[in-house]
Amino acid sequence: MLIGKGSDLRSSEITNEQAYYGRREFLKGGALALGAGAAASVLPGCVTSAAPEEQAPPSRKGPFDASETPTPYEAITTYNNYYEFGLDKANPARNSGKFRPKPWTVKIMGFVKKPADYSLDDLLAGLTVEDRIYRMRCVEGWSMVIPWQGIPLASIIKKLDPLPSAKFIEMKTILAPDQMPEQRGDALPWPYVEGLRLDEAMNPLTLFATGIYGKPLPNQNGAPLRLVTPWKYGFKGIKSIVSINFTDRQPKNTWQIANPVEYGFYANVNPTVDHPRWSQKSEKIIGQRLSLIQIAKGEAAVKRTLMFNGYGDQVASMYAGMDLKKNF
Ligand code: MTE
Repeated sequence: MLIGKGSDLRSSEITNEQAYYGRREFLKGGALALGAGAAASVLPGCVTSAAPEEQAPPSRKGPFDASETPTPYEAITTYNNYYEFGLDKANPARNSGKFRPKPWTVKIMGFVKKPADYSLDDLLAGLTVEDRIYRMRCVEGWSMVIPWQGIPLASIIKKLDPLPSAKFIEMKTILAPDQMPEQRGDALPWPYVEGLRLDEAMNPLTLFATGIYGKPLPNQNGAPLRLVTPWKYGFKGIKSIVSINFTDRQPKNTWQIANPVEYGFYANVNPTVDHPRWSQKSEKIIGQRLSLIQIAKGEAAVKRTLMFNGYGDQVASMYAGMDLKKNF
């Protein structure tokens, strides 16, 4: 992602990620070849394997559950974009240990019948947590498959009862520079903000996630509450949400404010519209195990990117008649 001034840019984040992840996979492969006990004694501390229960395949129950193999818990929780905790993929897991996701308050405001400061428990009271296995596609060209637990945003919105004048929601991440080291700098305008059209927010796919693999959401993944819109690029998935404003105007999101040429409001996954620096035609699958021979050959696990990340049946009608090249 483009952060701050152009000179701050690393030449290609994808290359960095590939090198980083390729190394982890190589070491993991080595661990397998050596046997777990031997590996533990020779491999550096950063190479851990997830506990067996974390690797248990989540059961597919819902109509929206992806059929692909879920990404291992370790990859989902150590390969993150959470710029408040640092600009590299490994930083959020390392730097978010002291973040306090409890107690948590969400401010509801704007064109809504029940504006108030809600404790998280009150906001979610009476609503059912659901399991959803969703594909996630980052605009940087990589993807994961994540078994989330969360509450459909539509049921939260119905409870809050928006006024007819509400057409969009704008969400903000907590501003806590004492807990989030990068908020003391100007890499991005803080706090992180995101927006959705109200019909997008009410779409049955849209989730406010509270957990992953049956465990509470780790800090680096956006504890205690983060947005998941699986047909949009991952940057729409705003983390650690502290406010929702019901508004009649299309809000701007953080990346759009930082670089309007590269990032738009909609951010729908679209393999026919390339990002200026990244092709969107295909994606690298994070956490997929490759054989040592494949890794030695420099191969990566890659797949073709699908329109709306494969969720066209559920979401395409919301964009009927829209020019998706213009509304990127
Ligand atoms: N939310 C906040 N507050 N800060 C961020 O830097 N990064 C976004 C999104 N939400 C980000 C954020 C980006 S670019 C992506 S790809 C996803 O979070 C990554 O989510 P993950 O780390 O859980 O995979």
